[in-house]
Amino acid sequence: MKIAITGKGGVGKTTLAALMAQYYADTGMPVLAVDADPAPCLAGALGFPAELRQRLRPISEMDELIEERTGAKPGSIGGFFTINPRVDDIPERFSVLHRGVRLLEMGAVDTGGTGCICPESAMLKTLFTHLLFRKEEVLILDMYAGVEHLGRATVDFVDAMLVVVEPTRRSLGTAAQIKKLANDIGLQRLWLVGNKVRNQEEKKFLEDNTPSLPVLGVMYANLAVQEADRLGIAVYDYVPDLKEAAAQMAKKLKEIIQ
Ligand SMILES: Nc1ncnc2c1ncn2[C@@H]1O[C@H](COP(=O)(O)OP(=O)(O)OP(=O)(O)O)[C@@H](O)[C@H]1O
Ligand SMILES: [Mg+2]
Repeated sequence: MKIAITGKGGVGKTTLAALMAQYYADTGMPVLAVDADPAPCLAGALGFPAELRQRLRPISEMDELIEERTGAKPGSIGGFFTINPRVDDIPERFSVLHRGVRLLEMGAVDTGGTGCICPESAMLKTLFTHLLFRKEEVLILDMYAGVEHLGRATVDFVDAMLVVVEPTRRSLGTAAQIKKLANDIGLQRLWLVGNKVRNQEEKKFLEDNTPSLPVLGVMYANLAVQEADRLGIAVYDYVPDLKEAAAQMAKKLKEIIQ
C-alpha cells in the first residue's frame, strides 16, 4: 500500500503521516515512512528518540554516496553521470526504526526551479521510483504541496493521495490545484482529509466546498497537538481523539484499496 500525503503548508500533513504510519505499524504491518519535506520533521512527529534522530541524515546531503552511485559530485553540472544509480540498499541502510516504523529522510534538491537533472536529483528520483515499486511494506510519503516527486511512470503505484485541508477557502484552493496537477499526470485516486476543524459548521463548509474529492475523514482542532510537539511526545500517544480519527481513516483506506 503506497500513500502520498500532500496539502498546503502547515495544514497537518506531517501530523497525519505520523498518525497513519504508527497505526499501520501497530496493526503489525511493516511501515516505511518517508519524509520528503526539504525541512524534515516527521521524526519529531513520530516521537523518535533523540539518539535515533541524530543518526538520520537526508539522502540528498550524502555527497559521497551520491558520487559513488552516480559517478559525479553533487553540484556538478554538465558532466556525465548515471541517471539510474543503484539504490536498492538505501532504505535499509539509511533509515532508522522505532516502534515498527522505519523512517527515511530524502532532503531537498535545489534545482533552481529549472527542473535540471543533476546527480542528486537523479539519485532521489531513482530512489522514489524504487520505493514505489517495493511490494513489502506500507509506504507513507510526507510530501509538500505539489506532485513533483511523482512522475507519470510512477503514479500507477500510488494507491492513494491524501490532500490535507483546513476549513479555509485558501487551503481548498490549493487542494484544487493539487488535484489538477495529479490528474494531469494520471493520478485519480485522491481523497480529502479535513484537519483543524472546530465545529460542525466548519465540517459542513469542507464537505460543501471540496474540489470534487471524496472526504476520507476529519480531524478536529485540538490544542493538545501543539502541546505534544512542545513536550516531544508523538500526537499518537498524547491526543486520543486524533489517534482515533486517523485510525478510522487508515482502516477505511485499507479497505478501499486492498
Ligand atoms: N488537529 C490539530 N489541532 C491543532 N493543531 C494542529 C492540528 N494538526 C496540526 N496542528 C499543528 O499545526 C502545525 C502544522 O502541522 P504539521 O507540521 O503537521 O503540518 P504540515 O502540513 O506538515 O506543515 P509543513 O507544510 O510545514 O510541513 C503544527 O504546529 C501542529 O502541531
Ligand atoms: Mg510537514
